[in-house]
Amino acid sequence: MPVLAVLVILGALPWIIAAAPASPDDAAAMQSIANTTGAGALGWGVKSADPCDGSWVGVSFDDARRVASIRASRAGLAGWLYASDLSKLTFLTELDLGFNGLTGQTGGDLPLLPTPLQHLRTLDLRSNRFLGVPEGFFAAFPALETINLDDNPTVGPRFRPDDVLTCSGLQSFSVNNISLSLFPDYLGSAAAFPALESLSLARNELHGAIPAGFGNDGNIVPRRQWSEFTPHRAHRPVHRRHEEPRGGPFANTVSVDVSANPRIDKPC
Ligand SMILES: *[C@@H]1O[C@H](CO)[C@@H](O)[C@H](O)[C@H]1NC(C)=O
Ligand SMILES: *[C@@H]1O[C@H](CO)[C@@H](O)[C@H](O)[C@H]1NC(C)=O
Repeated sequence: MPVLAVLVILGALPWIIAAAPASPDDAAAMQSIANTTGAGALGWGVKSADPCDGSWVGVSFDDARRVASIRASRAGLAGWLYASDLSKLTFLTELDLGFNGLTGQTGGDLPLLPTPLQHLRTLDLRSNRFLGVPEGFFAAFPALETINLDDNPTVGPRFRPDDVLTCSGLQSFSVNNISLSLFPDYLGSAAAFPALESLSLARNELHGAIPAGFGNDGNIVPRRQWSEFTPHRAHRPVHRRHEEPRGGPFANTVSVDVSANPRIDKPC
């Protein structure tokens, strides 16, 4: 009966699609990540070499069977995150490996990807063991919206402004407690970061005054209010004034947290 045959085929279609394995490139990269980060404990690569078969906890994929997100925070991972593996996951939109024991392959640095991940919007590597931020790190994530690098034992990290400026879609930038000493004043530019909502720079070694021009082309509150940010008045976010949006794309307020930076001056 042809109708029945069609129904049977249609009924089997989702199963046939669902059974398609992950892209071989993604599978190889994921297997290598499983190897170097100790994610075997999460079941990665144990039952199956296919990261899209459901046995890889925290790994999800898109309709084309490409790895789309990896959520493995507080997973007891320890080892190395290789740049060459990450950069093969070309459809990755979210990577959350926070609260683990990961470090970088090259001198413990955060991974410097050989080719950018064009779709990565969320990157969370907080509370790991990364020791540095290589020049060009940010340029590998042109679609980045949210990044959290808090609580890594980085030694005197310096962000190159032209590197960070490649992430013009940033909404949330959090680098608490990474021994940052230079104030990233370019992040106050609403022209460069029109979508920015949250800037967290707490528990660092920022020193000197907040640069005079900070936020001048945006709607960040007048500088006199920075005096609220002495260490004993921590955690009081300052907001961009939004009563007088200067014609620009400023529907948002931006919270800026520079609390617990013992060496930061009152700016005025
Ligand atoms: C992962 O580790 C296994 C076992 O040690 C090894 O056979 C395999 O080649 C490794 N795969 C990759 C992609 O590194
Ligand atoms: C800062 O991060 C380190 C890890 O690099 C952690 O051990 C420490 O507790 C954190 N300090 C604060 C004040 O959060």
